[in-house]
This record gives sequence, structure tokens and C-alpha cells, in this order.
Amino acid sequence: MPNEDALSFPDGFLWGAATAGHQIEGNNVNSDYWHREYAPGTDVPEPSGDACDSYHRYREDIALLAGLGFTTYRFGIEWSRIEPAPGHVSRAELDHYQRMVAACHEAGLTPMVTLNHFTVPQWMHARGWWWDEAAPELFAGFTEAALPVLREGVEWVCTINEPNIVACIAGSQEGAANLVAHGLARPSARVSEQLVRAHRLSREVLAREGGIRSGWAVATQAIHALPGSEQVARDYSRPMEEFFLEASRGDDWLGVQAYTRTFVGPDGPLPPADDVEKTLTGWEYFPDALAIGVRNAWSHAEGVPIVVTENGIATQDDNRRVDYTRDALHGLHEAMSDGIDVRGYLHWSALDNYEWGRYSPTFGLIAVDRKTFRRTVKPSARWLGDIARHNALPRAVAA
Ligand code: BGC
Repeated sequence: MPNEDALSFPDGFLWGAATAGHQIEGNNVNSDYWHREYAPGTDVPEPSGDACDSYHRYREDIALLAGLGFTTYRFGIEWSRIEPAPGHVSRAELDHYQRMVAACHEAGLTPMVTLNHFTVPQWMHARGWWWDEAAPELFAGFTEAALPVLREGVEWVCTINEPNIVACIAGSQEGAANLVAHGLARPSARVSEQLVRAHRLSREVLAREGGIRSGWAVATQAIHALPGSEQVARDYSRPMEEFFLEASRGDDWLGVQAYTRTFVGPDGPLPPADDVEKTLTGWEYFPDALAIGVRNAWSHAEGVPIVVTENGIATQDDNRRVDYTRDALHGLHEAMSDGIDVRGYLHWSALDNYEWGRYSPTFGLIAVDRKTFRRTVKPSARWLGDIARHNALPRAVAA
């Protein structure tokens, strides 16, 4: 019901929520992260275990999202399930993910499939992870193996989630970096190049299929230089962000993920100031991160259409989730009014899920009981679902 009191979005704008296999499925036992979680003396505080049991409950999750008014569901397929041993492609796991895609279509949701969301098979990790010379070819091989899933009518494919964060983890050499905006190790140049190559080879496989739009999703950091630290900030930002945005030129679309901002001082990135509001991940509450990330991506990728593939907040205060999202969407709408081609907004996350080491930072639009797996829709989900239904932000709400 577009009207003058609303800020409308283009027809066909994708509205939805995102998840990742390891964070919601449970028992992803052949993945490298699972091995790390359960290794003796692990550095991971809490293992993923059953996660949200979405491996079995995906129909319920899909039905909830569709019922709320969303049009799109971004989810990951797990390489370590599909190819649990090198060269062995599990027909049963392909069937599983085919059923997920079919369930999306039955519910009226457009599926967006992520091929790699941080986790890789343990065997691939053991070979040298993304440092392995053959890693790009292995990933292209997995893309090929996953085609039966994508042939079920998947138009939107995200090859690699946050390659820049993966490169930072590689940069830390031992793979133990925190997934936080500050204090990330400088990205490994070698792994950055390997990821670009993996992305391109994967895109070639996908392009041969026809009818698939592929891109990847970059973590944007809304980098702010303190006065006098402009050059330090540029040096920090280039390998971390611009390198990956520029590598996206010519892709079908580019995913922007945005949560917070990072200040850079004379010695590099700084933790959030003591006196700012922080979320459960310890990040500064900063909804403008989305518009900044989108504008930066648009200018460096030179006009590749943007999809917001993740944006959200870890909080127990669901009103704050609404505030954050409303302000982020307002900024997004302004960027679009300035001519930036944005095709969709996918909130992180559909569910309260496994936040890489802990369950306590709750990003979900839907709560999940940790013992019964019972789903409870939060008011923020209904609020965002209404925006999706109307394809518009109420002006009063947006102001
Ligand atoms: C990742 C997600 C993660 C989220 C919040 C992104 O870095 O893609 O897997 O849960 O941010 O930390």
C-alpha cells in the first residue's frame, strides 16, 4: 500500500533474513570449526552442539519467515556435509539442501544460497585451509558438486561470506582471531589472493549454468580516522576493505554486511570508547554503519548492484533492535535516493544462533529455546515483516 506517508522501495526489492549453516544447523561434525570447538584445550568458550537444530527444523523456520511477510531467505549449504571426504559427494546431503530450496519456493520465499560461510571441511583445513595452493580449485570443485542444489531454482548465490574477515583470521596465523571489528589481524595477502581466485573460479562454474546471479559478501567497517590519522586509516582500510570491494567489479551483485564502525588512531584500529552504547558483542551501537558501508561499496565496486546481505544487532532489548534497524533502513533509503542500486535488505539474523563461540549475543528476529528449540517470534520480526509486506518504511517511523 504505497502512500505519501511512506518511503517506498523498488518493486521486487528482496526483504528477508540471513543465517549460516554452522550457526543454526547443529552437529556439523565434519567441519573445521566443530573440530576446533571440541579439541582438547580448545580456545572456543562454548561449542555449537545442536545449534538451533535447523538441520531438522528448516521447514518451520522458512514458514515463520514467510508468514512474517518476508520474501527472501539467505542460508548456507555446508561444504563439509556435501563433501565430507575429498571427492566423496553425498547424494543424501544434496537431497537435504534440495528439499530446503524446494521448501523456500513452496512458502513463496526467494532462496539466496551461501556456498561458504567461514566453515570448511576438516580435511580441507588439514590440507592447509585457504593457504593450500589448490584451495581455489577445491572450492570450484565444491561449487560444481553443489549445482544440483542450485538447479532447484536458486537465482542468487553468494560464493564466499566475508572473505576479508577470513583473510584477517589467516593474518593472525593461528586462526584464533576474534570476529570483532577492532583488533583484527592484518589480512594475509596470500589468502586474500586465494579467496579472490576461489570466488572467480566459483563464479565461472555458476555462470556456465545460466540464470544464476553470483557475488560475495564483504564485511564493511565504516572506518573513521581520528584527526591526524587519515593515512593510517587508509593503510588499514585498503587491504581490509577496498581490496575486496574492488575485486567485486564485474560481479552480478555485491553483498554488503555492516554492524558498527571502527575508529583508527595513530597506532591503528581502536576499541569502542568507554562512553558509547555497546551491543552484546561489545560493538558500538551505530546504525549509520549500513549507509556508510553501502556508499563505500558502491563507489569502489564501480556500480555493481548491492544487496545488503547482513545487518543487525546483538541485544536482549528488542526495542533497541527495532531502533537500530529503523535507523539503518532510513540511511539505506537515503543512499538509494542518491542513486545507489540496492536490490535487497537481509537482516542478520533470522534466529538467535551460535555466534562463533557463544550463544549469548542474540542477533535473532526469532528467539530459540536452547533446550526445546522452540521458536518465539520477537516483536522486531513482526515490525520488519510489516515493512517487507508494504515494501515501504513508514515516514513517521523513519523520521
Ligand atoms: C558473520 C556472521 C556473524 C555476524 C555477527 C558476520 O561477521 O557473517 O556469521 O554471526 O557477522 O557477528
